Amino acid sequence: MDIKYTLQNMTLDEKCALVAGQHFKTVAIERVGVGEIAMADGPHGLRKIVGNDKLGLEESVKATSFPTAVSTASGWNTANAELLAGAIAEECLHYGVDILLGPGINIKKNPLCGRNFEYFSEDPLLAGKMGAAFVKGVQKNNVGVSVKHFALNSNENYRFMGDSICDERAMREIYLKPFEITVKESSPDTVMCAYNKTRGSYCSENEMLLNSILREEWGFTGVVMSDWGATHDRVRGIRAGLDLEMPGNSLAGRAKIKDAVLNGALDVSVLDRACERILTLAEKYSKNEKNACDFDSHNALAARLATDCAVLLKNNGILPLKCKEKFTVVGELFENMRYQGAGSSMINSTRVTSSKQIFDENCVDYKYTPGYFDNKVCPEDLELDYSGTAVVFAGLTDDYECEGADRSSLSLPEAQLDVINRITESRKRCVVVLFGGSSVELPFADKVDAILYMGLPGQCGGRAVYDLLFGKASPSGRLSESWPISYSDVPCADEYSRSQNEIYRESVFVGYRYYLTSGTPVRYPFGYGLSYTSFEYSDLSVE
Ligand code: GLC
Repeated sequence: MDIKYTLQNMTLDEKCALVAGQHFKTVAIERVGVGEIAMADGPHGLRKIVGNDKLGLEESVKATSFPTAVSTASGWNTANAELLAGAIAEECLHYGVDILLGPGINIKKNPLCGRNFEYFSEDPLLAGKMGAAFVKGVQKNNVGVSVKHFALNSNENYRFMGDSICDERAMREIYLKPFEITVKESSPDTVMCAYNKTRGSYCSENEMLLNSILREEWGFTGVVMSDWGATHDRVRGIRAGLDLEMPGNSLAGRAKIKDAVLNGALDVSVLDRACERILTLAEKYSKNEKNACDFDSHNALAARLATDCAVLLKNNGILPLKCKEKFTVVGELFENMRYQGAGSSMINSTRVTSSKQIFDENCVDYKYTPGYFDNKVCPEDLELDYSGTAVVFAGLTDDYECEGADRSSLSLPEAQLDVINRITESRKRCVVVLFGGSSVELPFADKVDAILYMGLPGQCGGRAVYDLLFGKASPSGRLSESWPISYSDVPCADEYSRSQNEIYRESVFVGYRYYLTSGTPVRYPFGYGLSYTSFEYSDLSVE
C-alpha cells in the first residue's frame, strides 16, 4: 500500500473512523483497501475473547499460561523473556491476532499495587531490559506489541482518575526509564497510554509524555493507543499524540473530530499524522496468516521457565527433600494452584499442572489437608501428625491481588499464618511453598526450615515445584524486588494509594534505592536467592 496515496484518497469521515477502534480491532476502510488489525491481551499469554464482548470480560480461547512478569524477571534472563514472548506470538498467529497488548513494564513503586504480578521490577534497568527482550521476542514473529501503561501507572485503586505527581528526576530515572530502554532497544510498534493523569494532565492527552518525550526525545515512530476507555478529550488527544482511541469507534467521537477539523480547531495535518501511523501498522500486520501452533512445546517451555525463575529464599539444609520420606501437606494451593493474575491478563489455560498432580504421579507418600486458607480461621482439626515434615502451600489468592485494586495489607491471610505457627510450635520441620505477585511479610521466616517462592509460575507451576523441592532442578531465581520485613518499612507507606493525588514523595528512593540509602533492613534484598550449589568468591575488586 502507498500510504501517502491512500491517505490522499481518504475522505474526512474515513479518517475520523480510522483513529478509533472497536472491541479489540481497528476499523477497516475497504474502499481504499485498508484492512483491520486484530489485537488481544496479554503479557503472560494470549487472552483472545470469544465473541464481541467490548470489555474482554467473557471467556477467551485456550492458550498457554506462561509465568507472569514477576516470575520472568526473577530469572534475570532476557533470553527467557524472548522465548516466552515468541511462544505467545506463535499463539497469536494461530488465532489471527496481529498485536499483543503487552508487556506491562510499570515500576513496582509499592508492594501493595494489585497489578505488581504483571510488572517486572522496582528497578528501571531490569524492567527495561526485560521489556525490550519481550518486544523483540514478539515482533520477530511478525506480531506487534503494545508496551504499557505509559506512564506512572503505579497504583490500581485510583487508576482511572488518579494524578501521578512526580518530580522530574524520579520521573526520568525511575518511571520513564523502562519505557525509554524498551523504545530505544526494541522499537515497539505501539505504546499504550495509561488511564491516570501525570502532573495534572491525562496520559491520553499529555503532550509532554506522548509528543515531547516519547516521540521527539526518544524517537518513537509507532502508534500510541489508549488503554480501554482512557480517552477523555479526543481532539486534545490527537493533538497530543494519541493516535488510536480504544475501544472507540463512537459516532460521537467521530463527529467531534470532524467538527474540530471543519471549524479549524484541529488542523487536518494533525489528523493525517495519526492516520498515517495507523495505516503503516495496518500495512504491516493486517495480512497476517493463521498458522499451526505446538501447544505441547509451549507447555514444556512454561514448565522450564517456571523452574528457572523460582526463588529459594531460605533453606537450612532440609531441601532437596528425599522421595522416600513421607510428608504432611497443608494448603489448598497444593491442589488449586494460583499461577496467574486476575483481570485483563487472565488466560484460559490449555492445561494446569498442580503440585498435587505431580506428587501423585511420582508416588510421593503424603497426607493432604486443604486447610482452606482464604481468610477463614484455619480448621482446628488439621491432621498434622502424619509425618515430621510439613510442606505448607501458602500465598496470595485472587481475593488479595488483582488488576483494578491494591492490597490493603502486606500480610498473608491470617489462616495461613495460623497453620504455619501451629506447625512450627509443634516442632515439626516446615517447608513453605509461596505463590504471589509481589512481596509479603514473612513473620515466620526465622522459624521455618525453607521457603520456596514461585511468584505466579504459569500453568506448569506444579511441575516446577516438584522438581525444585526434590532436587531434580536447582533453584536459580533472584528477587526482582525487595521484600521488606514490615509494610511500615516501605517508603511513604502510609501515603500510598490513599487518594486521587498520588504524590511520589519518595522520589528516586524506590525499593532498594530507599532501603540501602536509609539503612533500613529488609527480609530479603533485591537480587537475593539461594540454590543447592555452594559458592565461593575470592579476589574480588572493583575499580
Ligand atoms: C485494561 C488494562 C490493559 C488491557 C486493556 C484491554 O483495562 O489496563 O492492560 O490491555 O484494558 O483489556
